[in-house]
Amino acid sequence: MLGIMGAMKVEIDEVVSKMSRVNRYEIGSCWYNHGYIEGKELVVVCCGIGKVNAATVATTLLHKFECTSLINIGVAGGVGAGIKIGDIVLSSRCVQFDVVVDNTNGGALGIVDKFESAYIECDQALVSKIEKTIQGMNIACRIGVVATSDKFIADSKVLKDLTAKFAPQAVEMESGAIAQVCALYKVPFCTIRTISDTADEHAEGDFASNMRQTAKISCEILKRFVVGK
Ligand code: ADE
Repeated sequence: MLGIMGAMKVEIDEVVSKMSRVNRYEIGSCWYNHGYIEGKELVVVCCGIGKVNAATVATTLLHKFECTSLINIGVAGGVGAGIKIGDIVLSSRCVQFDVVVDNTNGGALGIVDKFESAYIECDQALVSKIEKTIQGMNIACRIGVVATSDKFIADSKVLKDLTAKFAPQAVEMESGAIAQVCALYKVPFCTIRTISDTADEHAEGDFASNMRQTAKISCEILKRFVVGK
């Protein structure tokens, strides 16, 4: 079964509203919505913001619901030249850029314990299938690094530094943690993020005004992907 997770209610509502035969289960203060879209079985959950919330829910989806792949949907701050609000970023790989486990030699930034690289690979087959879904929708789509931390980024200096280190296309607060869980369990994972802001000094205002509309775009892509259109 496919597991879908988003950090905020607005990031999953448009998917849940299209589901039929829904059963809701409360586990660890989150509601898991099990049901169908056009006969396709899925479970959809709002995990809450941040890496620990995301990892907790990802693990529950794998254990309790026996999900065989996970997709994260939602909004993100766009990074890089020309990226615009409303564009899509699909994760080819994820990095947790606030992690420093080994502080020798200046610190191995982003390398999580048990991993060899800061980049955690996403499932390329899943990415390609979602990319094909988007091709019919007339939306700009980039595939690249999604960078995660437990902080909302609204600072062009931080972005410049982050770009030099990891060249991400988007910043947000969950995907790296979900990618880590999925890598540990060897379950395919990808994130679909619509750009709500560009993580600069305007980010807070842009996020507040664009979050609802941009979150809907990720939901629409996910629904089309699930039904195979
Ligand atoms: N989600 C959406 N915009 C973001 C930003 N600028 N930083 C972190 N997470 C985000």
